[in-house]
Amino acid sequence: MIIGITSLKGGVGKSTITQNLAVCFAHLSYKVVVVDTDTNQNTLSWFGARDKDLPNINVVRVAESEALTKSIENLHQDYDIVLIDGTPSLSKMATRIILASDILLIPIRPGAQDFRTMGEFFKRYEDAKEFRDNIPAYFVLNEYSEHKKVHEGISKQIESSFEVPVLKSKINSRVAYTEASVTGQGVFEYSDPKAKSEMVNLIKEVLEMAKELNLME
Ligand SMILES: Nc1ncnc2c1ncn2[C@@H]1O[C@H](COP(=O)(O)OP(=O)(O)O)[C@@H](O)[C@H]1O
Ligand SMILES: [Mg+2]
Repeated sequence: MIIGITSLKGGVGKSTITQNLAVCFAHLSYKVVVVDTDTNQNTLSWFGARDKDLPNINVVRVAESEALTKSIENLHQDYDIVLIDGTPSLSKMATRIILASDILLIPIRPGAQDFRTMGEFFKRYEDAKEFRDNIPAYFVLNEYSEHKKVHEGISKQIESSFEVPVLKSKINSRVAYTEASVTGQGVFEYSDPKAKSEMVNLIKEVLEMAKELNLME
């Protein structure tokens, strides 16, 4: 299964969500590889910091949008799960990621700034649909707080504006995400039970979707 974590906005949590999903999949004994497409190589550095005694994850860097499709096809032969950590800067790459993915996860923070940049992303998504009609996509709300009434409203607005569902599992703002990342870990391996639990919910929801879409047994 190939999961693209993408959007045209930086700092929304693409790499954080990618790394944390990779860790959860590895703990579930899936063979997992992350393709880092971003010039800042955030996930490659994360991988460099990861203790080799932790469950194994591979990370490869693909800088060329032309090479992405082939690399993904090759990696898909050898791994159960291919995660693509998206880049906000290369628009061609964004289209390739959209076309290469079985499922797209689109991280978004509940604020006006992220909302505004979505129009541009969805232009690409609609263009990509001319080549492949069914590209399942889901928003993942990041830095969300159920205590803020305004966040709930924005979540509904996002869903109705773009006709893409928002996943039930939402990610709160927690220092554990940054702290775990520094040592090449995911929150599943870290000492914040709330962060761990929301990541477990996310992975369960992704696996349920994958089953419904016949992407996994
Ligand atoms: N849920 C969260 N809680 C706290 N910090 C977060 C959360 N998600 C992301 N961050 C932090 O925000 C910054 C940007 O996140 P990152 O995943 O690198 O975004 P992107 O890959 O979309 O550019 C990082 O420093 C990361 O640690
Ligand atoms: Mg990133």
